[in-house]
Parts: sequence; structure tokens; C-alpha cells
Amino acid sequence: MQTVVSGIRPTGNLHLGNYFGAIRNFVKMQEVDRCFFFIADYHSLTTHPVPNDLHGTIRNVLAEFLGTGVDPEKATLYVQSDVPEVAELTLIMNMNAYLGELLRSTSFKEKARTQPENVNAGLLTYPVLMAADIIIHKALKVPVGKDQEQHLEMTRTFAKRFNRMYHVEYFPEPLAYNFGENLVKIPGLNGSGKMGKSEGEGNAIFLIDPPEVIRKKVMRAVTDTGPAEPGQPKSEPVENLFTLISVMSDLQTLDFFEEEYQACRIRYGDLKKQLAEDIIRFTAPLREKILDIASNEDYLRKVTRLGAEKARESAAKTVKEVREIIGFKAF
Ligand code: TRP
Repeated sequence: MQTVVSGIRPTGNLHLGNYFGAIRNFVKMQEVDRCFFFIADYHSLTTHPVPNDLHGTIRNVLAEFLGTGVDPEKATLYVQSDVPEVAELTLIMNMNAYLGELLRSTSFKEKARTQPENVNAGLLTYPVLMAADIIIHKALKVPVGKDQEQHLEMTRTFAKRFNRMYHVEYFPEPLAYNFGENLVKIPGLNGSGKMGKSEGEGNAIFLIDPPEVIRKKVMRAVTDTGPAEPGQPKSEPVENLFTLISVMSDLQTLDFFEEEYQACRIRYGDLKKQLAEDIIRFTAPLREKILDIASNEDYLRKVTRLGAEKARESAAKTVKEVREIIGFKAF
């Protein structure tokens, strides 16, 4: 059993890419590991200082985690801002994070470029807060995408530096955990790249999209003019639709459209109709559970209280020990 920590910023609803890329694997990990999954609401303030309906967004993401099978009894599911110990550890870790290394972070440079009107200090120290999230539970495994690997590298740097500075072997070094062959990359609908909410309107299918919205998005997916001769390799947009079919539909359906394509008889409209119905069949039960949970105030209150209690127990122990290591002592 290893300790796992992963966080997700509450910036919108979860889509099929999140489901197959992360959540489905979280649900498996909670059976074997000591898992902490949290909603990184402090982090979201670095890009959205005045969030529009923060509470509602957090509620949705919580309902989505729960509706897709994260079990609050098995994993510790919590809201970052419910655990003030994280803020204290961040403050302490800030003292051994150097300006130069923070300025060199790719994500900081990227954000400084895209939001030049709001290059706040939180953006600069984002990696320190993220490191605190991880080391506060002494995690070893951090399931994150490629784009977060540099942050993990910085987390290791800060953890090692703390150990060296105070001559202790206190924080272990966490590693980015890649789901390997269990990682199913879901392409988006606009022809290139993976599914993502920031990739443009209609690129992502959200777990709570109603059937008519799913149909509309799938029917508008980018394709091409069709193969001109048998054996012609598929263009990226068409390859993407076949990938979606292979994940969402049964084998016969995939074989059927594959044959149609190879014989140059493919009708993308038929393929999309089938794909849309198969996505709807898959998401409908999840959607129903998510919406049901999102409207259940009592249940959400119970879940977040339990999560905060478990997360704070783990976090408070670390902060207490860190204080002792540094030399803050009670009189
Ligand atoms: N930075 C992560 C992202 O943007 C979210 C995150 C915050 C996180 N704290 C974390 C992920 C700790 C893993 C562990 O996706």
C-alpha cells in the first residue's frame, strides 16, 4: 500500500477524457492504496481570483467524483481549503523555494504570457502550494499528466532541500505516476489533439451533457471527404472518431465501420449517429447519479466533513512534526 495524492482544479465539469484518463483509475487505486483526492480550490484562485460560483463548481466536481465511483470511505476525498494545514506548510516551504527556480517554471512563464494583467504571487508560488498538497501526506505516488511533471520535479527539489536543510530524512520523494497501459487517451471532437475543455466549444463531451447535447456535438465532429481508394490511411480527425468508437462501442460496431472505411463505403453520418447513441448509453447512468448527488446537500455535507476530518488528521501530524524539526517549540 502506498500513499497517493491527486488534485483537480475546480474550473468546470469533468469530461470523458478526465473519466478515462484519471477517475476510472482513481476508483481502482482506492482499493489498494492510501488515496487522497482533493479539489484544488486554492489553486484555482491563481487564474480566477474572483471565481464565478466557486461553491457550485466545487459541488459539481465533488458530485462527479462520487457519481463515478470514488468512495469517500475508502479514499479521502476533500476540499483543499478545508485543510488549513496546507496553507501553513506552504508558508514554511516558501522559505526554501528560490525565486529563480519559480520564475523558470514552464507553467508560470506560460501563465505570465497568457494573463499579463494578473501575474500574481500565487501564480509564482503555485508549485510550492502543490508541493505542500503532496508532501503533507508524505505521498509517494502522484497520478498526473505530462504537463505536471515539472511541478513534481520541483516538489522533489523542495522536499529534498528541506531534508538537507534540517538534517533529517523526513519527506519522501514523490514520483509522477503514469497509469501506463491503463491510460486511455480520449481524443477531442474537433479533429486534433486530446479531449479538453479549453480546446474550444464542442470539443469535449461532459459526463453531465444531456443526450441532445451529446448528439449535437458528435454530429458536428470534424471528419474528411472520405477515402478515395481502398487502404488509404485515415486522417487524424477520422482516426479520432474510430478511437472513440473503439472505447465507447462494441467490437462488432468497430469492425463494421472499419470494413466500410476500407471498402470506401463509409458514411460518417452513420458512424456518428451510432457513436452518439453509444456515448449516451455509457454516460446516462453516470449523469443520473451525478445530478442526484449534486442536489443532495446532506450527503455532500457528510462527505466533505468526513474528508476534511481524515485529511486534517494526516496533515496536522505532518505540520506538527515539521514545526518540531524546524525548532518551533511550545513553552
Ligand atoms: N496542478 C494540478 C493541475 O493543474 C492540480 C493539483 C494541485 C495537483 N495540487 C496537486 C495534482 C497535487 C496532483 C497533486 O492539474
